[in-house]
Amino acid sequence: MTDQAEKPPVGVYSGPSRVLSGVQPSGALHLGNYLGALVKFTRLQHEIDTFIFVADLHAITVWQDPAALAQQTREIAAAYIASGLDPDKATIFPQSAVREHAELSWIFNCVARLGWLDRMTQFKEKSGKHKERSSVGLYTYPVLQAADILVYKATHVPVGEDQKQHLELTRDIAGKFNHDFNAPGFFPIPDPLIQGPGARVMSLRDGSAKMSKSDPSDYSRINLTDTADDIAAKVKKARTDPEPLPETLEELAARAEADNLVGIFAALAGKAKAEVLADYAGKGFGTFKPALAELAVETLAPVGERMRGLLGDPAVLDAILAKGAEKAREAAAPTLAEVKKLVGFWGA
Ligand code: TYM
Repeated sequence: MTDQAEKPPVGVYSGPSRVLSGVQPSGALHLGNYLGALVKFTRLQHEIDTFIFVADLHAITVWQDPAALAQQTREIAAAYIASGLDPDKATIFPQSAVREHAELSWIFNCVARLGWLDRMTQFKEKSGKHKERSSVGLYTYPVLQAADILVYKATHVPVGEDQKQHLELTRDIAGKFNHDFNAPGFFPIPDPLIQGPGARVMSLRDGSAKMSKSDPSDYSRINLTDTADDIAAKVKKARTDPEPLPETLEELAARAEADNLVGIFAALAGKAKAEVLADYAGKGFGTFKPALAELAVETLAPVGERMRGLLGDPAVLDAILAKGAEKAREAAAPTLAEVKKLVGFWGA
């Protein structure tokens, strides 16, 4: 290990602000992805230079059917655009089309410490009892994520709460690189944008489990491609308790399922949970659920419809992805060239 005490400081990055984030093409997108990530992308594109990619290199850390992967990539691109991302404003691209991600990832593999990766809880969850049979890629996955972010010198990363630890690792890698290669302020120390009631959407069947693509019950999640009828049925069947909604956030916090539904309402309506309680305290789920179903259908059904429309014309999506990849390469290449120089590679 290098002795960091004798190295120069991490430094302060003074370049422009930039947003970067991505979603894996490894299954249907759900309400958690929408509220935790997609909605934020759409909002940020109006404020900051925004890069949003489809994380296909990350997806293959677990088996993906080669015959389906390209179509899954188009589906994520369609979801981005259907939720309001404008390809003329934001750069939308497939990760594997920009080789700088993989190249920087290798260099970061040599910066990150084994002990840092050993602490990653998502690897422990995903590898389960069969750690030795997991791919090496699944283990080093967060290092690739750091490369995704830092190859664009992104300063802001909108994600759901489950990505917090990966973002902390990214910050550590950026700091150690700046330190070790005597380049104070070379990489920004990016800020995760996690806040808001949609940052951790829970399963509709179990308020203690995260809403997830891999949950075997389709009733646990609302998919972006669900029809209006599906959405209403899932909200109606969502697990709750028999009590009316409480007055305070403290009382709500003790009731996981109620808390989740109020959080979903708040995120969909662009309100704080306290504002939702101000309207519904004392009312039962017989009143609250129909209002939530109506709001969810109103917001999500048109997204699903737009997605289906976009997927009907794959050539248009492919053209958007190809143009995005070109712009992304232009942005990533100079960073990698500078990194190679700093590392001291021949010819850099
Ligand atoms: P992924 O594909 O698992 O999820 C995509 C985004 O959705 C968020 N999310 C949720 N938010 C709220 N509630 C939930 N139940 C929920 N489930 C998922 C995730 O936090 C994420 O923001 N490692 C990333 C992809 C990635 C990435 C990156 C993200 C690769 N490189 C660089 C940001 C920057 C992932 O697997 O997300």
